[in-house]
Amino acid sequence: MAGIESLINVSEFSKENIKSFLSISEQSELNKLFELAYKIKKKYVGTKVYLRGLIEFSNVCQKNCFYCGIRKDNKEIKRYTLPKDEIIKLGLWCYEQGYGSVILQSGERTSKDFVLFVEDIIKTLKRKTNDKLGITLCLGEQSFDTYKRWFEAGAHRYLLRIETSSPSLYKKLHPYNHSFENRIKCLEMIKKVGYQVGTGVLIGVPYQTIEDLVNDVLFFKKMDVDMIGMGPYIKHENTPLGKKFQETPELRKKRFLLGLKMIAVVRIFLKDVNIAATTALQTLDPTGREKGLLAGANVIMPIVTPQEYRENYFLYNGKPCINDATTKSLVSRIESIGETIGFYEWGDAPHFFKRKNKKG
Ligand code: 5AD
Ligand code: SF4
Repeated sequence: MAGIESLINVSEFSKENIKSFLSISEQSELNKLFELAYKIKKKYVGTKVYLRGLIEFSNVCQKNCFYCGIRKDNKEIKRYTLPKDEIIKLGLWCYEQGYGSVILQSGERTSKDFVLFVEDIIKTLKRKTNDKLGITLCLGEQSFDTYKRWFEAGAHRYLLRIETSSPSLYKKLHPYNHSFENRIKCLEMIKKVGYQVGTGVLIGVPYQTIEDLVNDVLFFKKMDVDMIGMGPYIKHENTPLGKKFQETPELRKKRFLLGLKMIAVVRIFLKDVNIAATTALQTLDPTGREKGLLAGANVIMPIVTPQEYRENYFLYNGKPCINDATTKSLVSRIESIGETIGFYEWGDAPHFFKRKNKKG
């Protein structure tokens, strides 16, 4: 491929460049791509891996995304919401393990009760850890007031995947009453409130083209986000998309590789953001997360949801139930690729501080 190396200092990538990176299939060229991404990662964010304990505290969701296993119309799963004290216990456990922060994730709900429930959890976790535990929220589309309320309670990061930056693809993946425009509006509100902002997309989802993914990378840049969490699409059989499209081992392999290439391209292109090596990568390959780190990711989100609830949080087939919350095995896996863990650190993306300073 013509001069991957020569692109190292180019900050404005053309669509063509991104597309050619994402189209690489030859192993030696892939290695070069990942090496370049790793070099840039080292320079801009270092080789410390930050841990976010992922607490999937409820699988109740009012939405019906066509790809997702916990969509409202899936009647095959048992719905749960962890009791408040249990969620707090899990958060404190993460804190004691040295996880710099936790992610509170659930299906989307907007009722007043839910808003207050979450607010109380945030406040309690902050109080019990002397403000030391970082709290990230991944709770979908909410009102400005709700975002603000949770921010003021002590949460400082918010993840809201755009899922795809193409409005027409978004329409194919969601029912008519799910609004792409509102999702963009939400991302803007989240930023305005003051959160560190994270977004991401599904990779290799049916109907998606390479051009769509190229535009996704440009979208991340344009939205000036601080964190990226994206992963390969994996079929769930109890969903409209899962019923319509079959999944072969070749397809899974292709999506996995595309997931790694997207991480590398985002690192090369955006440089100083945090990028997560997500669970979906690990689902398709047992060492997927480590490979993600070597392709440019710098964040890992170990699932700490109690085992008995996990089987009901199946967003897609084969989501791992392994408990790597046993910190020892996690440390050795990360050390085996020559990286270290940023224990007791929030691990904020340098991009966030630059963005804040720019704003004045
Ligand atoms: N495959 C991969 N990721 C999925 N998600 C939902 N369903 C799937 C699937 N079938 C992701 C969505 C959502 C996140 C919580 O999980 O991107 O934002
Ligand atoms: Fe609900 Fe999120 Fe799944 Fe959509 S992707 S159905 S909003 S949990």
